[in-house]
Amino acid sequence: MDYAIQRLVIDAGNEAALTTAFAAVGFTAYVFSTRTDGRLDLELYGAGGVFPDAVIAALGVLGLESTEHRVASERELLANVLDSEPCELCPGVWIDPQGTLRTSARSDGRLVLHIPPSPAFGDGHHPSTRMAASLLLTLDLAGRRVLDLGCGTGALGLIAHHRGAAAVTFSDIDEGSVRTTRETCVLNGYPQGTVIASDLLTAVPTEAADVVVANLYADPLLLVAQDERLQAILPHGTLIVSGVAQVKRPAVEAAFTALGFTLRDAREEAWWCAMRLER
Ligand SMILES: C[S@@+](CC[C@H](N)C(=O)[O-])C[C@H]1O[C@@H](n2cnc3c(N)ncnc32)[C@H](O)[C@@H]1O
Repeated sequence: MDYAIQRLVIDAGNEAALTTAFAAVGFTAYVFSTRTDGRLDLELYGAGGVFPDAVIAALGVLGLESTEHRVASERELLANVLDSEPCELCPGVWIDPQGTLRTSARSDGRLVLHIPPSPAFGDGHHPSTRMAASLLLTLDLAGRRVLDLGCGTGALGLIAHHRGAAAVTFSDIDEGSVRTTRETCVLNGYPQGTVIASDLLTAVPTEAADVVVANLYADPLLLVAQDERLQAILPHGTLIVSGVAQVKRPAVEAAFTALGFTLRDAREEAWWCAMRLER
């Protein structure tokens, strides 16, 4: 999504009137910061590239005029606030937001995924992504068909692709994540990756996979366990679940063992856990 950005300079003391005027029309996308000359910078963000008429009117009433007006993409705005340093997701696998490590990595055997900063989940900093990735790396993925359920940025499915998976299907309920994963597939040399929008398994093709990796949180995982499509999608093979709060681990483990899965491996970090199950 694009955002219109207006920047204004206002005298200290005027912020209360503006805050009241914006609150009256339900507008919250702005930030004040104090300048060295004691006046205030005001920056306003208009979702979709436009400002509500009421916001323009509120500025007009106070006789304020914008000193700068431009349009920026969501990604450009987030680049300033999201971490853009490369991070090691798990041993030998790096996430590189700027794409600067790729060339050197080819020669030292590291897998480096170029995943630009985005609102999608999966920038490599969360324990649930790290644990799912490390469980994925315990598998021989050569020739396997993999489903990355709740793909976020697509990092997990891309690891599977680079570890030799024959085909990876990525799915997410969130259109932004679907869009991001399509982009990261292209950026990481896998433009043919299948990326679909789906609420859990509802729109996932019922073709058998060998591995399902689902970093989804406990409650959606319990719904997956109840969905009879799981039998067609993963009649036998490996299921990696992550994003499970440790307190919910017994319920998630029980739901899948009732379906014939056996727990083979598990990881715990902070209050999260991840499990590898087989059937
Ligand atoms: C914890 S994030 C994991 C993202 C990425 N796979 C990773 O490991 O970093 C969970 C993802 O599941 C998606 N999600 C949440 N509910 C979902 C649902 N009902 N169906 C499909 N995806 C869902 C979210 O949009 C989010 O991208």
